[in-house]
Amino acid sequence: MSDKISVLIDEETIDKKIRQMGEIISKEYENKNLHMICVLKGGTFFMCELAKRITVPVSLDFMAVSSYGMDTESSGRIKIIKDLDEEIEGRDVLVVEDIIDSGRTLSYLLKLLRERKPASLKLCTLLDKPDRRVCEVEVNHTGFVIPDAFVVGYGLDCAQKYRNLPYIGVIETN
Ligand code: IMP
Ligand code: MG
Repeated sequence: MSDKISVLIDEETIDKKIRQMGEIISKEYENKNLHMICVLKGGTFFMCELAKRITVPVSLDFMAVSSYGMDTESSGRIKIIKDLDEEIEGRDVLVVEDIIDSGRTLSYLLKLLRERKPASLKLCTLLDKPDRRVCEVEVNHTGFVIPDAFVVGYGLDCAQKYRNLPYIGVIETN
């Protein structure tokens, strides 16, 4: 049986927002090389689209951490599943996330990356659910602030499903 999913943010709106974010970020890093770090797997769709809209030289790396199981609630446990391939010391780093929810993952990750002494370290997220915040985290670029609902699509999954939806949707429960 397939779930019924209602559209929260459509493809065109997301595309427009990412273009705007790309312009802002390109200006911010003018005359610099930007090193983008994608948090797997949810951040992949967003990072690829965003990187295409950035006009300064970009390099990419990937990191995987876990804070959630098959459940939609945070287990509170965070571990590194895949570390970065490259050193970040002295580089201008932008972490790219799909969504900031409790903030646990990113507050942990940013602390860990800061210890590696990047020249700068900023955070960019497609979605933010500030109502759910447990750990404080400074977000430098946000696509959309959304209400406390479990969303899927554009990289976001529910038990590994729906990442490939071209829009952000909410699974209808009844
Ligand atoms: P946090 O540590 O609670 O901020 O959670 C971060 C991670 O939980 C995100 O990167 C997502 O992978 C996942 N997550 C949080 N909210 C949602 C949601 O609404 N849909 C899908 N995944 C989510
Ligand atoms: Mg994520």
